[in-house]
Amino acid sequence: MATMESLIGLVNRIQRACTALGDYGGGDTALASLWDALPSVVVVGGQSSGKSSVLESIVGRDFLPRGSGIVTRRPLVLQLHKIEDKEEYAEFGHIPRRRFTDFSLVRQEIQDETDRITGKSKQISPIPIHLSIYSPNVVNLTLIDLPGLTKVAVEGQPESIVEDIEKMVRAYVDKPNSIILAISPANQDIATSDAIKLAKEVDPSGERTFGVLTKLDLMDKGTNALDVLEGRAYRLQHPWVGIVNRSQADIMKNTDMIYARRREQEYFATSSDYGHLASKMGSEYLAKLLSRHLESVIKAKIPGIIALINKGIDEMEAELDRLGRPIAVDAGAKLYTILELCRAFDKIFKEHLD
Ligand code: GDP
Ligand code: NA
Ligand code: MG
Repeated sequence: MATMESLIGLVNRIQRACTALGDYGGGDTALASLWDALPSVVVVGGQSSGKSSVLESIVGRDFLPRGSGIVTRRPLVLQLHKIEDKEEYAEFGHIPRRRFTDFSLVRQEIQDETDRITGKSKQISPIPIHLSIYSPNVVNLTLIDLPGLTKVAVEGQPESIVEDIEKMVRAYVDKPNSIILAISPANQDIATSDAIKLAKEVDPSGERTFGVLTKLDLMDKGTNALDVLEGRAYRLQHPWVGIVNRSQADIMKNTDMIYARRREQEYFATSSDYGHLASKMGSEYLAKLLSRHLESVIKAKIPGIIALINKGIDEMEAELDRLGRPIAVDAGAKLYTILELCRAFDKIFKEHLD
């Protein structure tokens, strides 16, 4: 019997399979509904609110492209797999079987793969990049990084970019099964937060939104964020989590991520404002909180997931019959692989029901 943790890994695999299916997975097929039924964590926030930094802290590695302005121009579906082995590595969906152990090459590949679709322009594309990271320092979790919400187009961008980004972000957060990781910087008024504004609209009761407050270290002296962190400024069903990421200076100095996590913990433990909240603050706590939540959401959905997988199997069988077997063409072969996968998933999921 598999452990609960592997449920997230299992859902990861189905999500990848659904994507690999391409056109077939679209429309009103059971597998398209399956993709919508699977929960994932979507990171939203304004540009430079600290989204990439939070993701890197959760992973404990330095691997995302960064810079000022719009850096993330395609969705990045980031799947974290906890392993016992000390050797960490990364793998891309578009380059299966190549193991990246040098994380600066991961950053380069994200950049190159972004450009491959969008050109070297500052355009965006909704086609996701899939990246898996295997490490002893992560919890099992799937996170989707999206372009930051913005208010104005910059040089070289079409005027429509502001709306295009919002449309792309909405397509993810509108899904009732997405868990929203809403990032707001503490050195700006929470009332002006792009993330909270959007979350409020699509999840008014706050049941699927996790509020994250970054840049606590950059607040004006003599002020603190207790109103937000204790839920008085904007109430959510889940507790707010405060974060201190690496500053731009830390990044320039190549400050080690694991060291930065420890320093963040110390910041809270020794803070006169936040000391009483220290055990529920920081990126490591956030990662555990999200992983636990994701697991319980998946567990509650298992019967529905099994039903959709079986509907998908039936549909694919019918499609294969229509094409006639054996099938040499690419589409049929792909379909067949997915069908086999679904049968395996069905079996494993049923084991989780016992
Ligand atoms: P994104 O555009 O939302 O992905 O934001 P980034 O993660 O790229 O962060 C933008 C800038 O803010 C970078 O220079 C980060 O170093 C800095 N930054 C992010 N979070 C914090 C924080 O908690 N404290 C400090 N001092 N700087 C931060
Ligand atoms: Na940025
Ligand atoms: Mg970013």
